[in-house]
Amino acid sequence: MANHIGLLTSGGDTPGLNAALRGVGKAAIKKYGSQIIGFKDGFRGLMENRIIRLDPKQLSGILTLGGTILGTSRDKPHKMPVGGKILDMTDVIVENYHKQHLDALVCLGGGGTQKNAYELVKKGLNIITLPKTIDNDVAYTDMTFGFDTALGIAVDAIDRLHSTAHSHHRIIVVEIMGNKAGWLALGAGVAGGADTILIPEIPYDINMVAESILSRARNGSPFSIVAVAEGAMSKEKYALLQKAISNLEKAEEKGDRQKWKAEIKSIKSGNSNNTMQVAQQLEAMTGLEARVTILGHLQRGGTPSAADRLLATRLGTACADFIKQGQFGVMVASKGDGAELVPLEKVAGVTKLVPLDHSWVDSARSVGTCLGDF
Ligand code: F6P
Repeated sequence: MANHIGLLTSGGDTPGLNAALRGVGKAAIKKYGSQIIGFKDGFRGLMENRIIRLDPKQLSGILTLGGTILGTSRDKPHKMPVGGKILDMTDVIVENYHKQHLDALVCLGGGGTQKNAYELVKKGLNIITLPKTIDNDVAYTDMTFGFDTALGIAVDAIDRLHSTAHSHHRIIVVEIMGNKAGWLALGAGVAGGADTILIPEIPYDINMVAESILSRARNGSPFSIVAVAEGAMSKEKYALLQKAISNLEKAEEKGDRQKWKAEIKSIKSGNSNNTMQVAQQLEAMTGLEARVTILGHLQRGGTPSAADRLLATRLGTACADFIKQGQFGVMVASKGDGAELVPLEKVAGVTKLVPLDHSWVDSARSVGTCLGDF
């Protein structure tokens, strides 16, 4: 039976992390008499042996708190900045796990964390993970906690932007988080009634977007809300990216591989001000004034929604039961109202993108929302 359990939160923070820590911790203590410690700031705290003892008192009163009481970081065990160098600290992490006499380690995180956790599983550690991210892009789980709260914040923002866009007859381009996957922009766009939604999964044609805005104006609505995911890309840039990726796959010489890697990096970084470009292009093409609102980290802050508290508590408490059963090398995924285990081997390195035939995509098209492709 696992009696010494370590917890860590890694990657970008999300509302619901504290609810999940409380869920795992309280259930493990109350049901199974476990002892819990938390590592500060993700894998870095595990590498530096920075711990906090978590007893029921520390785990009380945190259900409604945003952020994570443990702190977090994007540090990866195998690529950690230490003393000005990037080092593989995996062995130190494995050593510290044993030094703390851990029987189990729970890693709460998004896609990157699942990948890092799987690498540590291969080193023999008893790891179980929970899926969190506002992006909802962790594979094999119905939902990640954090997403619902961020969705609510983004929808509220779109609602507010609607009245000002309407009053001033403007285009308001609102940037919503989501670099690889467009769940948040699509969900918020559909729920907030955005007129155009641009997501990474559907490369857009700016002419199509301009035409749909002009058509709304001709029909008596000279204003539009354009919801743009951080990682949305024009079809021209997308074609260049695909070409570079295929050249990289074909490249045999080291020099060629480096060249195509640099090209991919430059296309991606050149896309980082895409939202501003969209606004400028649409202003020039439609003659309507355009304004930009970048929601940024607002979407990750504050108290978790009821749905996120419920999901995080549900998965957290189930996690304590799975630890008791000795289930390791797995992620506790949400499946309907329950929880199911998915091997980390399957989850690691897979991003859950929006399928092009997803019902949210269909619904958006059915109500006349422009998705930038036709
Ligand atoms: O992974 C979640 C996420 O919120 C992404 O949507 C966003 O691109 C990224 O984190 C921002 O990361 P950071 O906190 O490092 O600015």
